[in-house]
Amino acid sequence: MSGNVTVVGHPLVLHKLTLMRDKHCPSAVFRQLLREISLLLAYEVLRGLPMTTQTIETPLTEMEAPILKGKKLCLVSILRAGNGLLDGMLDLVPSARVGHIGLYRDPQTLAAVEYYLKLPEGVDERRIIAVDPMLATGNSVSAALNRLKQAGAKDISFMCLLASPEGIEALAQAHPDVKVFTAAIDERLDEHGYIVPGLGDAGDRMFGTK
Ligand code: URA
Repeated sequence: MSGNVTVVGHPLVLHKLTLMRDKHCPSAVFRQLLREISLLLAYEVLRGLPMTTQTIETPLTEMEAPILKGKKLCLVSILRAGNGLLDGMLDLVPSARVGHIGLYRDPQTLAAVEYYLKLPEGVDERRIIAVDPMLATGNSVSAALNRLKQAGAKDISFMCLLASPEGIEALAQAHPDVKVFTAAIDERLDEHGYIVPGLGDAGDRMFGTK
């Protein structure tokens, strides 16, 4: 397994993930849990943000206080399920810019087909965090990362909820420079490219579609 993968095995993350995996979990609860987990995952993804100090005055005295420095953040949602991870992250970093990449999986080939792209200016100077709840075959995530690199992105992390060993391996081959953060790595993919045991189709679970 690549050294670029961080599994965020915090008890709260694992507990919420178990609730989400349960097929009886209603969409509204699923969405709420996804939002909560995204916040906890983002806490870990953003751990390495560079800091500087700034002189401030507390009510008692002046001090050099730590403050975030450097590159601006850009969150990139891989549509449509990636949107479920955005709100929690934006609660943490409200000033981050947000991009969207629309990709769907061709059901026959499982290849990623792009249908939408909107990115903020200056992606080359930003720290990019691409998000999609499921890293399954790795095809769509890899295509999204290719697209971001084409647009000039140089500093990219990828955050998901669940990953397959196959997806992790595919991403390590195609994008060894991208750090991956996930709540869990499941057993395998099935013949349709679904993660097993997984949680089903994340978009369908979020939006109540089938
Ligand atoms: N996408 C999903 O939503 N679920 C999977 O298991 C695989 C890909």
